[in-house]
Amino acid sequence: MRDNEPAKAGCGPDGAFTDEATAEMLVVAAIAARETAYAPYSGFLVGAALLTEDGQIYTGCNVENAAFGPGNCAERTAFFKAVSEGKRQFRAIAVAGGLKESEMTDYTYPCGVCRQVMAEFCRPDRFEIIVARSAHDYRRKTLRELLPDSFGPAHLRPR
Ligand code: THU
Repeated sequence: MRDNEPAKAGCGPDGAFTDEATAEMLVVAAIAARETAYAPYSGFLVGAALLTEDGQIYTGCNVENAAFGPGNCAERTAFFKAVSEGKRQFRAIAVAGGLKESEMTDYTYPCGVCRQVMAEFCRPDRFEIIVARSAHDYRRKTLRELLPDSFGPAHLRPR
């Protein structure tokens, strides 16, 4: 994994999505990761939990900055932690977000930049995005549903 080749995305031999128990476990991990969010400017706290193909979970939170631009989303924090530790194959990510003062009233969907980062490593029909309002209230989407007709590493390979 120390090469500089573009990612060859995949979600395992069977491409199976997570079962309900795994989805719920990821949601619980995302809600816990939200506790560490550093979001003093927006007050919008986000947690994410990314499941690797080999069954490990990498969590992330949003990390804001006084200069605004350098801030990072929870999803990318989780992806960059995982990739920096040699992971390239992912199965699913759970996301939980909401304003600090209020309950999580809405589902927080990944921003466009985070969707593009997912497209670098994950196949559109084999990667699941789980957006949660609570441990038992979540929706499951594929990457293709959230980022159809995407540009990815395959476009830069000769055919
Ligand atoms: N944010 C995330 O971390 N993930 C999302 O899916 C949406 C937005 C963060 C970025 C920023 O710190 C705050 O939420 C408000 O946009």
